[in-house]
Amino acid sequence: MQYLLNILLSLSLLTSAYAATAEDWRKRSIYQIITDRYALPQGADLNACDPAKQTFCGGTWNTIKDNLDYIQNAGFTAIWISPVSQNYQGPRTPYGDPYHGYWIADASKLNDRFGTADDLKALSDELHSRGMYLMVDVVVNNVMALSTKPDLSTYMFKQESQYHPYCPIDWGNTTSEQNCWLGDLNVTLPDVNTQDPTVVSAYSAWIKALVQEFNIDGLRIDGKFVRMATIHTAPSHFDLIVRHFPYAAAKHVDMQFWPQFCGAAGVYCIGEVFDADAGQALQWQGKQALDAILNYPAYNALVSAFAIPGAQNMSALTDMIAQVKQKSSDPTLLGNFLEDQDVPRWASISVDPQSLWNAMTFNWMSDGIPILYYGQEQGFNGNADPLRNHLINATDDWLTSQVQVLSSTQEAIAFMKGNVVTVLTNVGSPPANVTIAARTPFSNSLSTTDILTCTQFAIGSNGSVEVEYSKGGRPVILVPDDLLDNSGLCGHEAPQPVSGKSQQGAVATSGASGRSGPMAFAAGLAALVLALAL
Ligand SMILES: *[C@@H]1O[C@H](CO)[C@@H](O)[C@H](O)[C@H]1NC(C)=O
Ligand SMILES: *[C@@H]1O[C@H](CO)[C@@H](O)[C@H](O)[C@H]1NC(C)=O
Ligand SMILES: *[C@@H]1O[C@H](CO)[C@@H](O)[C@H](O)[C@H]1NC(C)=O
Ligand SMILES: *[C@@H]1O[C@H](CO)[C@@H](O)[C@H](O)[C@H]1NC(C)=O
Ligand SMILES: *[C@@H]1O[C@H](CO)[C@@H](O)[C@H](O)[C@H]1NC(C)=O
Ligand SMILES: *[C@@H]1O[C@H](CO)[C@@H](O)[C@H](O)[C@H]1NC(C)=O
Repeated sequence: MQYLLNILLSLSLLTSAYAATAEDWRKRSIYQIITDRYALPQGADLNACDPAKQTFCGGTWNTIKDNLDYIQNAGFTAIWISPVSQNYQGPRTPYGDPYHGYWIADASKLNDRFGTADDLKALSDELHSRGMYLMVDVVVNNVMALSTKPDLSTYMFKQESQYHPYCPIDWGNTTSEQNCWLGDLNVTLPDVNTQDPTVVSAYSAWIKALVQEFNIDGLRIDGKFVRMATIHTAPSHFDLIVRHFPYAAAKHVDMQFWPQFCGAAGVYCIGEVFDADAGQALQWQGKQALDAILNYPAYNALVSAFAIPGAQNMSALTDMIAQVKQKSSDPTLLGNFLEDQDVPRWASISVDPQSLWNAMTFNWMSDGIPILYYGQEQGFNGNADPLRNHLINATDDWLTSQVQVLSSTQEAIAFMKGNVVTVLTNVGSPPANVTIAARTPFSNSLSTTDILTCTQFAIGSNGSVEVEYSKGGRPVILVPDDLLDNSGLCGHEAPQPVSGKSQQGAVATSGASGRSGPMAFAAGLAALVLALAL
């Protein structure tokens, strides 16, 4: 009997390694990887890989697997990888080669550029043995072709009726956004007819089998429900998004498709709803659609609030926090990011490193699942990720409690989530004669630490907290000292290691200073790969 019980227990432990739900994902932090780019095979010539050429650099599922220590040691508990389906294999197009993995040819086959089925399984197994999750990007809205009349026999869907007929998108016309084709005449993106029952059932069967075979824990849906005109950004920023557009496929897939598709997958689904309007974007979160979406509205607000030069409009952020609370079915499940493959690197829209640190800190210390685009940490020396993991462990409700804004000015915002107070500013690196004060529920006898500098922070009478920026605009995270026990942070004792693989330490910042502009990407990549080679 005891024997049987043990077997049942170990089986349930095994199954808990996959089929992860939204609840399971809430406590994760995600490192986003472009499979071709994160790590090159041993001995590869780094100089041969010029990211600007839009061609393959040679990363694979194996090279990710061989370089997981770096990600785990930084505190990440999940990775999100490029789509795994077979891509276009023909000659180079005017928009380069499909190194990004989004130019789907036959969705039912694996992308052999990235490895074999055994390689993908080995990556999944290695992640699970480290207690980490695997999120896979999936593209269902469209396939890729070079004409408006491609040979359908090479695709997963071979019938003309399984696609919408060709028409260029008329932006602003929802029917057209939903049914017409993305891309242009150089690279067309034939629109799969997700209203066709044969498509729905084939996609459902496919995703169910894929998730089971590779023990995938979550899906990131390259769904594309775009309303470009609502992304309110500086013109140069907007241009960059548009330039990405040929492969940043983006538009409506009808909403009814998602509950069936994600239901068949049986795992957490987070969708890319490329829309800065909270009301528009958040209608895609909930039982009628997806578990969560990537938080483009918050991203847009973070750009408005923190980018330098920029609007430096803190009200955009406080306003967005209020809107998301009101319109999201669960803000703590949304995906928080500052960079991804469809928006520019932060360093190319904001020159001041303090702007990055403050905006990133928001993503870690407020509601939602933090996502970091590979290489971004090269400009960030932070221990926010280990802190978040510790708070998840050490408290019952940090994850599910919702953020409360304590006070805000044009230059700064103070907010509280659980028992942690975060104070952020947009003044940038130069000293500024600015202070922000906030009232907290803390007693003035409470001992607290700013964990980004490991210094004690005095709470004033009536629980007041005051932060000044005479040495520049650093983010501040105030944690009551009793919450830091067993965190390994700021001289507090480390957690007891469980199975030899401990989760602590901050990300190193090798040679990251002073980097900005378009070369940041190349330099970040090179620095990262070099760091990995050590
Ligand atoms: C919107 O697009 C659809 C599909 O292309 C088209 O049939 C319809 O006439 C368009 N509506 C308007 C108002 O332009
Ligand atoms: C195709 O690509 C070329 C080279 O980038 C560009 O000049 C041209 O405008 C594109 N054609 C179409 C139809 O978009
Ligand atoms: C700042 O953002 C708020 C809220 O989104 C907006 O109403 C206001 O017009 C913005 N101010 C400026 C100067 O752009
Ligand atoms: C959280 O708790 C788990 C299980 O006790 C442990 O394995 C893990 O190391 C802890 N993580 C942190 C960051 O304390
Ligand atoms: C800082 O600002 C305060 C209030 O605006 C002013 O009284 C003070 O002189 C300023 N200090 C410096 C060093 O500029
Ligand atoms: C504390 O708060 C109360 C109520 O807001 C106020 O009357 C009092 O003056 C405050 N005391 C101090 C020392 O700021």
